[in-house]
Amino acid sequence: MTAEKIKEIVSQMTLEEKASMCSGADFWHTEAVERLGIPASMVSDGPHGLRKQDQEGDHLGVNDSIKAVCFPAGCGTAASFNRELIQQMGETLGEECQAEGVSVILGPAVNIKRSPLCGRNFEYYSEDPFVASEMAGALIHGVQSKNVGTSIKHFLANNQETRRMTSDSKIGERSLHEIYLAAFEGAVKREKPWTVMCSYNKINGTYAAENHKYLTEVLRDEWGFDGYVMSDWGAVNSRVKDLQAGLDLEMPSSNGFNDRLIVGAVQSGELPEKVLDAAVARILNIVFRFEENRDKNAVFDRDKDHEMARKVAQETIVLLKNEDVLPLSEQDEIAFIGKYAEKPRYQGGGSSHINSHKVTSALEMVRGMANVTYAQGFDDKEDKTDEKLLAEAVEAAKKAKAAVIFAGLPDAFESEGFDRAHMRMPDCQNELISKVAAVQPNTIVVLHNGSPVEMPWVNEVKGIVEAYLSGQAVGGAVCDILFGRVNPSAKLPETFPLKLEDNPSYLFYIGERDKVEYREGIFVGYRYYDKKKMDVLFPFGHGLSYTTFAYSNLTTDKDQMKDTDCMTVSVDVTNTGKMAGKEVVQLYVADKESTVIRPLKELKGFEKVELAPGETKTVTFTLDKRAFAYYSVKLQDWHVETGAFDIMIGKSSRDIVLTKEVSVESTVTIPFVYTTDTTMGDVLRDPRAREIVKDLLKLDIFGGEQGKAESSAANEAISAEMNRAMAEFTPLRCALSFGGNMNMADIQEIVEQLNALEES
Ligand code: BGC
Repeated sequence: MTAEKIKEIVSQMTLEEKASMCSGADFWHTEAVERLGIPASMVSDGPHGLRKQDQEGDHLGVNDSIKAVCFPAGCGTAASFNRELIQQMGETLGEECQAEGVSVILGPAVNIKRSPLCGRNFEYYSEDPFVASEMAGALIHGVQSKNVGTSIKHFLANNQETRRMTSDSKIGERSLHEIYLAAFEGAVKREKPWTVMCSYNKINGTYAAENHKYLTEVLRDEWGFDGYVMSDWGAVNSRVKDLQAGLDLEMPSSNGFNDRLIVGAVQSGELPEKVLDAAVARILNIVFRFEENRDKNAVFDRDKDHEMARKVAQETIVLLKNEDVLPLSEQDEIAFIGKYAEKPRYQGGGSSHINSHKVTSALEMVRGMANVTYAQGFDDKEDKTDEKLLAEAVEAAKKAKAAVIFAGLPDAFESEGFDRAHMRMPDCQNELISKVAAVQPNTIVVLHNGSPVEMPWVNEVKGIVEAYLSGQAVGGAVCDILFGRVNPSAKLPETFPLKLEDNPSYLFYIGERDKVEYREGIFVGYRYYDKKKMDVLFPFGHGLSYTTFAYSNLTTDKDQMKDTDCMTVSVDVTNTGKMAGKEVVQLYVADKESTVIRPLKELKGFEKVELAPGETKTVTFTLDKRAFAYYSVKLQDWHVETGAFDIMIGKSSRDIVLTKEVSVESTVTIPFVYTTDTTMGDVLRDPRAREIVKDLLKLDIFGGEQGKAESSAANEAISAEMNRAMAEFTPLRCALSFGGNMNMADIQEIVEQLNALEES
């Protein structure tokens, strides 16, 4: 519908109708205004399946929803590093929404994994904003290609569940831009989600819902977002202020209370009516976009979509460790051990919980594929070793050629609404793994969890498969990987630290009451572990394959560029093994000479390529200014410091195989203001300044360039080098106290000349 037509409809609405348009009619619908032909529009969770509630609504996954298909959760889809695949998953979800009359699916959820403890990490993509934004973009693209909207969430800085509705995330501006905003930015700019969902929490003292800076200045003015912003369910706290900040739709509703506040505020002149009109127009725009693009032929074919879920799951399962034990042979007798072989844990709890139309377990899928025995091994209702189950498992393992233990985190360990208390698996499962590994040298652990776990048995087993929470088709996908029908190709979108205490947010997570300080700043995930040179259990980007890949010919189209240019990087990748496979080629950029504190390297590109044995493909990346930049708070913009950068190609963040140095020249200078407190070192960074301070340089405190003879007694105690170093950090004003006959007016005069030079 055209903007004019929408404007016309808005002009025909009463003040009361407009106010009520800005909040839900019920849990899942927007208001209808029949006399003007405005239909009610349904939204549903999301993100990895359709949680359409046609009976009683709730936002915690308590009441029933229609039977649907549960795809792998965000933790897994990110591990695929496969944009096309996730786009296809989005297309499938979009078609399901069309068939079910759902205008917007509530996702993707892109919040950064700041700590492994966040109860909702399973829904989120990564510790890295580039990965989060790219994968979210792919999903949005897919869903919206079916004329169904998405709601990228939870905007902004909602990285824990504890007190999520009241906590205040205290974050520096640079970290906000480089890490937390960046997770949304690329996806919003490129894919234009129809809606954005604001989070519950405050950001630096202001609720996300009433945050004009982020909802309007950043989201709309800077990023060009043109859809509507909806609140997370119950996130509205000050309706009139929120509307002015840019929050269009309150969900679900306040039973008319907030609508009356809006009406009152317009009547009293507190709220300009045009603010309300703009919000209504934005909501109607999306309502009609969906209505006018209904696909009457769309069908929700659950069995077909189950196969799509399996296809996605095959690429979300990460092979973490393999000492020549995988793939298993279908001819051998294998023991499947652990409750999750029979009843897989494949999704997390809360608003994303799908009423799966069917779930396939590995045990069910392996029957007919291989000769497998089964022992339950543990129960997950409580963390207590069941000696009988344990003994049976050990017996089964002893008799087999190999044992596969299906372990992981029980439902109660990770869910929306609360955080994990620790990073451990249940003790009873750890004990089972060690006892089985003690009798069976070919032991493999398959993990079902949405976030990293500590692995005290990591050196006791030969194989580890991270199945994440891979959706309802997980059983088949795991068997495909275990028996080599599919070559694993997923990579970790997050670091698995050795222990929780290693995590950079550890000292401050989960904050003090409502105050949560993000003191680790930009050093989230591998940005921290790398800089600290810390050992980790499994690094960011890690994931094995049944084949091997070799890299060669790292080239760039230029060795130097201005920050207004782009650089093309290409690298050849060859499958040097015997099996076809997919590799995720990772490109990191490192600033080699920086005056600002930066990570050692940051991921700036990735591509997944499929290669037959012996095949070589050239992978190409384009790097622009952003790939080299940090966020300058002073400039309020991204900035590149002139100098050398390394382009690194890696199999993981800790396995860099090729590096090439390039240089980038900045076209922007950050204005520098000289004062009497400016140090001589800072002055001399500009070669033109030497002439202005030439008299000061003669003084001993500034290095005495034409001063004392080298052999004086003082020079024996202070070397020329020490002298120079001290001079570098001495402010200009010291000329007053230490030597010469300078007075303050002389020094001020020098400062003025320096500032004049800066402006010239
Ligand atoms: C969650 C959102 C969800 C909404 C509706 C909230 O509790 O944080 O992610 O979309 O409920 O169920």
